[in-house]
Amino acid sequence: PSEPQITRTGVSGVPWGACGAGTTQGGGQSRRGELEGIRGAGTWKSERVIASRQGPHLRLAGGGILNFCANNYLGLSSHPEVIRAGVWTLEQFGAGLSSVRFICGTQSIHKDLEEKISRFHQREDAILYASCFDANAGIFEALLTPEDAVLSDELNHASIIDGIRLCKANKYRYRHMDMQDLEAKLQDAQKHRLRLVATDGAFSMDGDIAPLKEICRLAEKYEALVFIDECHATGFLGPNGRGTDELLGVMDKVTIVNSTLGKALGGAAGGYTTGPKPLIDLLRQRSRPYLFSNSLPPAVVGCASKALDLLMESNAIAQSMAAKTQRFRSKMTAAGFTISGQDHPICPVMLGDARLAAVMADDMLSRGIYVIGFSYPVVPKGKARIRVQISAVHSDEDIDRCVEAFTEVGRKHGALP
Ligand SMILES: *Cc1c(COP(=O)(O)O)cnc(C)c1O
Ligand SMILES: *[C@@H]1O[C@H](CO)[C@@H](O)[C@H](O)[C@H]1NC(C)=O
Repeated sequence: PSEPQITRTGVSGVPWGACGAGTTQGGGQSRRGELEGIRGAGTWKSERVIASRQGPHLRLAGGGILNFCANNYLGLSSHPEVIRAGVWTLEQFGAGLSSVRFICGTQSIHKDLEEKISRFHQREDAILYASCFDANAGIFEALLTPEDAVLSDELNHASIIDGIRLCKANKYRYRHMDMQDLEAKLQDAQKHRLRLVATDGAFSMDGDIAPLKEICRLAEKYEALVFIDECHATGFLGPNGRGTDELLGVMDKVTIVNSTLGKALGGAAGGYTTGPKPLIDLLRQRSRPYLFSNSLPPAVVGCASKALDLLMESNAIAQSMAAKTQRFRSKMTAAGFTISGQDHPICPVMLGDARLAAVMADDMLSRGIYVIGFSYPVVPKGKARIRVQISAVHSDEDIDRCVEAFTEVGRKHGALP
């Protein structure tokens, strides 16, 4: 086999090399075929370039549009107080640490934010990561040994699946939110030393919510720990926005919570694990993404810290988001669409066909409404949808305009009678 050759225009001699280099050797042809296949299937993911801040109204090169596809559930990504806190922290604490936490990368603001996160979730301690993806990559490997077992919902987020792949524990996958299957797997896993049930609190593709009450009941019966990934719940689910565990009344029964600062909490970046102090202590010693990756930049810490302050002062923002979500879901259902999920600001408009979802999303954009179609492999074949995400900062008029556009576009393409 020939050595890979790095040339001015790309890499040749490796299967993916010919794509950029315009050569025809190796596997380039088949890779090009694969790219064409992705386009042909209507599943190509392109990146739209935004010329403004994140928010309900965006500026693109071609003009202003209404935005319904960010995880900016509470509108805090462009909240003036959040931005001011970020600027202040940037000036006081600098651009970055040029270090990992345990060498010389821990500032008072990192400790303060960890304390605030613990208080928000009513847990003992918290540990910050560069992202929730990293948090998930760190936990299983640090916590579980080959004597242990992890039981994971089949539709969990990719970061949980990757995290589990990295660890040496015995792996069980239970059917999506299927408690009979979970119980059967827990029975089988009794032979192992320790059991951890891992689930998303709210699932990002369907907007459905894990049955945590039942999961916690089974966990007690079979002596398992419960881990939830709260990226699509922190800040807005539950009466005070604490998350799925608050919504379902099991804050004292879920052992470990992972979440992100990159969605509702200001939207910059960063993730965390919160839970019992000995567990967090162990992660600080053993978790590889924590030990070997840079400290969170001060501006990011400042923004997240202010976002949590705002949420702990009042639940008004979370309540406003719930009302907007209700408005969208009921109007769309009345118009004849099927919206999956349960009262979650993720509102998947179920369409079935991948092409229909892509064409309708394009047509929505031409009417000034930014929504994205999702299709295989992100969701199962035949279950394509347009995922709409509601934010507290959408006005009632914004929501009504979106519903009207959906109704017109749906009729035009035969998705509605
Ligand atoms: C977004 C998301 C992540 C990744 O979070 P980042 O902080 O952006 O890495 C992890 N888990 C779930 C369920 C998510 O939705
Ligand atoms: C949660 O995050 C920790 C580190 O933050 C990570 O090690 C762990 O794998 C995550 N847990 C799950 C179940 O994703």
